[in-house]
Amino acid sequence: MAIHALPSHEQFGSAGSLFDASTDPDRSCLPPQLLLILPLLNTSLLAMAYDTQTLIRLDKAHVWHPFTQMRDWIIPEHEPLVLVAGHGAWLEDSLGRRYLDANSSIWTNIHGHGHSTLDRAIRKQLEHVAHTSFLGFTNPNAVELAARLVELLPGSSLTKVFFSDDGSTAIEVAIKMTVQYFQQTERPLKRGFISFENAYHGDTLGASSLGGISLFHDRFKSHQFPVTQIGSIENLEAIDGSEIGGLIIEPIIQGAAGMLLWPPGILKSLRQWCDENEVLLIFDEVMTGFGRTGKYFACQHDKVYPDFLALAKGLTGGYLPLAATLTTDKVFSAFLGSYEKAFFYGHSYCGNPLACAAALANLAIFEEQRVLQQLQTKIEHLARGLHGLQELANVREIRRAGFIAGIEVAGQNGQSFDRQDRIGAQICVAARNHGVLTRPIRDVIVLMLPLCVGFEEIDISVGAIQKAITEVCGPIS
Ligand SMILES: Cc1ncc(COP(=O)(O)O)c(C=O)c1O
Repeated sequence: MAIHALPSHEQFGSAGSLFDASTDPDRSCLPPQLLLILPLLNTSLLAMAYDTQTLIRLDKAHVWHPFTQMRDWIIPEHEPLVLVAGHGAWLEDSLGRRYLDANSSIWTNIHGHGHSTLDRAIRKQLEHVAHTSFLGFTNPNAVELAARLVELLPGSSLTKVFFSDDGSTAIEVAIKMTVQYFQQTERPLKRGFISFENAYHGDTLGASSLGGISLFHDRFKSHQFPVTQIGSIENLEAIDGSEIGGLIIEPIIQGAAGMLLWPPGILKSLRQWCDENEVLLIFDEVMTGFGRTGKYFACQHDKVYPDFLALAKGLTGGYLPLAATLTTDKVFSAFLGSYEKAFFYGHSYCGNPLACAAALANLAIFEEQRVLQQLQTKIEHLARGLHGLQELANVREIRRAGFIAGIEVAGQNGQSFDRQDRIGAQICVAARNHGVLTRPIRDVIVLMLPLCVGFEEIDISVGAIQKAITEVCGPIS
């Protein structure tokens, strides 16, 4: 029972029009009366306004998706979901099907989709201005956000905030500041970096130089800067720190590595080694920031603070791209002086007022709705649910840090599945049929729910993963 199908691409003459149907009265084919009430309607009616087949055809003809083997994407049998709406932890596709967003829209979403506080904050900012340059100017939202972020880290020396666009650029900033810091404090030889095996810090060339996932990083080695990679903290003993400027880690848990947990106490030992060797410590909290591990930031569990803290993803509640690299007065001071000592780095959208408005609203929700306090019982509930999954013969290990979980599957003999079989991907497709969206990291099923979910939604997601593993791998032992 479709209300109105959209006209085809050819009729409109532009692919963009297809996406504007519900909101742009000038271009929509929907009657004006319906347009007025659309926002009030059940979203499944809204979904029917999309011409799914045309969108998929155009997507396959023109769009190149990230981290995707496009040969598999463009084959006729592949029917990508066209996501058109979101409310709370749920997403809706163009055919009106609802899915639990169990991957938080690639680890970004915090308080759910369509949150009235976030929506209102962005709309309010739009009444003023969408974007103004941060090069040579400032804006109220960015100023307030910087001050709020600093306040969130009492006990640390992190007092200065540099805004950029995403996780990768937050890391680029930390890398470049480190190199320039040592140049400007008369130690130019301290330009090396230490990172960990299996690390992931982003895809720009600088950030990916620090990465340790061979599938993503190895082919670009010739274009990246050399980095000393270590497997464990013990390896530091053999390293001469005199030519090392920075050491980077994803605190508590390595995400893209497959949700690998660090041994307790590692951050304290790293802090000590860095202090002894005059090395700047960089915490990449692009994934772990904003409540995922049960505190605002993962480093707060151990009360160990870095010289650089990189934030992105959840900074705007998962609404808009924005990143922040926090650092200390000590680092900042080294850039003061003659013009040439400035940090010559930036992007067009640094400090974007709309994104900063979203970030301020994100933080306001944390406070007003006591999100971190409420989260603790959800974490316990999740832990209990995951415990049940352990009974599945194909579950090799479940790793969890707060509200972040990775469920690793393997053959019943304990051996890893053949990579080519892409069992993790098959499980996620099966989970989708049970109304839950997530993505695997090889054979690790990621469960990273928005913090707003209730117990029932936690049960739905764990239940769907359980069914999916059983369907793909076999029954409970
Ligand atoms: C720990 C970590 N750092 C950096 C990044 C890169 O962030 P972005 O994809 O926003 O560039 C990611 C992305 O997943 C990440 O998990």
